[in-house]
Amino acid sequence: MSTASAQNTAAPQTFPIPANVHAETVVSVKHYTDRLFSFRITRPQSLRFRSGEFVMIGLPNAERPVFRAYSIASPAWDDELEFFSIKVPDGPLTQHLQKIQPGDTVLMRPKPTGTLVLDALTPAKRLFMISTGTGIAPFASLLRDPDTYEKFEHAYLTHTCRDVAELAYGKELVASLSQDPLIGEFAAGRVTLYNSTTRETSPCMGRITALIGSGKFYSDLGIEPLNPETDRVMICGSMQMLKDVKELVESLGFVEGSLANPASFVVERAFVG
Ligand code: A2P
Repeated sequence: MSTASAQNTAAPQTFPIPANVHAETVVSVKHYTDRLFSFRITRPQSLRFRSGEFVMIGLPNAERPVFRAYSIASPAWDDELEFFSIKVPDGPLTQHLQKIQPGDTVLMRPKPTGTLVLDALTPAKRLFMISTGTGIAPFASLLRDPDTYEKFEHAYLTHTCRDVAELAYGKELVASLSQDPLIGEFAAGRVTLYNSTTRETSPCMGRITALIGSGKFYSDLGIEPLNPETDRVMICGSMQMLKDVKELVESLGFVEGSLANPASFVVERAFVG
């Protein structure tokens, strides 16, 4: 005499995979804070991309799934794809995406694109990658790509977050470079991570715009100021952050580049929502 069989017997509703979309399998998920997580999915064999590009990601949870742009955080040679995501409580995609588990399906549109690519920059000595929040993702890809070290002598990655816990992904990334069997020998001694926080006390506090503007960034690292003769800059963060950092580097003489017209800096908006 049981009524249990009457409860929740309906299978979860399933929707057909839309045409021209890859259905990939979640391999692993890592939660960093209540706002940030990373995940890895299988890579479609046909997918080719440049390190630093983004793809459109969705879930098979509706007839017409919501897709959002996600920078691929893994390098072009990796046989899995890694992403670093924010969790927005009411975000049309991330309120569901933050619950994915290994074995689940993630949808991906097939055409990678983006401006944060090495080919959009002319050659120089130093590469500065300026990021806030999940804007670090494309740089996680580029720092694991041997081409970055072919093209530049030294890479400086700046990552600014609200609090210290949000910096963990970038710290792990940079620490892992020297252990990486493919990248270790290229990256050794050639990557500098510069962290700051804006809402929690830490050894280095402030927005990167303020830290560069005051010169603290240069004195902390003991390096020459940004100079378009010797340096290239890639920028990824929120809309306002992009605008402010772009204005800053333009005031220093940097010129925005693209694949069609490579120059001295490039920008890309980090995913939100
Ligand atoms: P702040 O705490 O002063 O807003 P978020 O998580 O909201 O995307 O922010 C990530 C980091 O980017 C925070 O440390 C935030 O600082 C910083 N930030 C926000 N707007 C700008 C901006 N216009 N220029 C530089 N940094 C910014």
